[in-house]
Amino acid sequence: MTPRRVLITGGAGFIGSTVADAFIADGASVTVLDNLSSGKRTQVPATADFVHADIRSPAAATCIREGRFDVVCHLAAQVDVRKSVADPLFDVDVNIGGSVNIIHAVHASGQKTRLTFASTGGAVYGDFVEPPNLEEYPKDPESPYGIAKFATELYLSYYARVHALDYVALRFANVYGPRQDPHGEAGVVAIFCQCLIEGKAMTVFGDGAQTRDYVFVGDVARAHLLAANHAGIPAGRVDTRAFNLGTQVETSVVALAETLMRAAGKNVPLEHAPVRAGEQRRSCVSIEKAKIGLGWTPAVSLEEGLQRTYHSFSGR
Ligand SMILES: NC(=O)c1ccc[n+]([C@@H]2O[C@H](COP(=O)([O-])OP(=O)(O)OC[C@H]3O[C@@H](n4cnc5c(N)ncnc54)[C@H](O)[C@@H]3O)[C@@H](O)[C@H]2O)c1
Repeated sequence: MTPRRVLITGGAGFIGSTVADAFIADGASVTVLDNLSSGKRTQVPATADFVHADIRSPAAATCIREGRFDVVCHLAAQVDVRKSVADPLFDVDVNIGGSVNIIHAVHASGQKTRLTFASTGGAVYGDFVEPPNLEEYPKDPESPYGIAKFATELYLSYYARVHALDYVALRFANVYGPRQDPHGEAGVVAIFCQCLIEGKAMTVFGDGAQTRDYVFVGDVARAHLLAANHAGIPAGRVDTRAFNLGTQVETSVVALAETLMRAAGKNVPLEHAPVRAGEQRRSCVSIEKAKIGLGWTPAVSLEEGLQRTYHSFSGR
């Protein structure tokens, strides 16, 4: 049988490269498209083809139109929520403009391609609803980043209804694991791992009782395989083809720090800093729909995932 042809945008990044590994292990022929703005060439699997291009470019559209891909996993994005607040136009340009370029190219290719989209479960629902958040809950994003992710889902839903585009939107909670950049704003687990390695205090903003839903990157990668293999979902409303990916467990920042220290067998002090403006108090997604619709459940517990992550950072 000819191997399945899979394109992964953002495949040089933290989650995208893990998704690329999963498809290669599954026997697929993988192409990675990335502009290396935050991703690393060394993270692209050795057996994958690499296209150095921006998702906003005509080159990216040509790659998709001519690539005869069975699956396109779209993960490339401007991923920094704070940057989206500081420079919303840039966020619109990359996260809406770039995504519509990819979506339109899949449509224009005339191929039967399954498109998966890396959306967010942590930044679309806002603070008005009581977690765990169901897919059909109202969307009130607290940031331009969340708005752009949801706007892209609206485009996908439109292309599905009007042009029969075949897609699945995956709304990730807080993803953590090996390869996450400890120098960015987003990855608290990676940042705390770095503090442990350097023996520095971990900074907790506010009282540390704010909660998040932490899901291991390997589980998110497995969900991409299931979404790619799925029989297909009839077009409907914007939430019809959206699936939250999380654990449905709320973990406070303080509990996360304590669990990580236990997993690492090492302690550092916690330092409290003033609460950050605009930070959500609670965030946790329901995963019942992914369980039934994709046959997906997270397999890696927080304790195990933190242990694996810490050891990957510390090299032990
Ligand atoms: N990390 C999380 O907790 C989380 C949560 C929800 C959603 N997501 C989404 O998952 C996806 C992957 O995020 P990540 O955490 O792996 O971040 P990452 O920064 O490691 O990966 C993003 C990749 O996209 C590439 N990229 C950025 N702009 C590009 C452009 N204009 N053209 C081509 N490539 C470009 C980067 O070089 C990088 O390799 C993103 O869409 C992000 O919004 C992440």
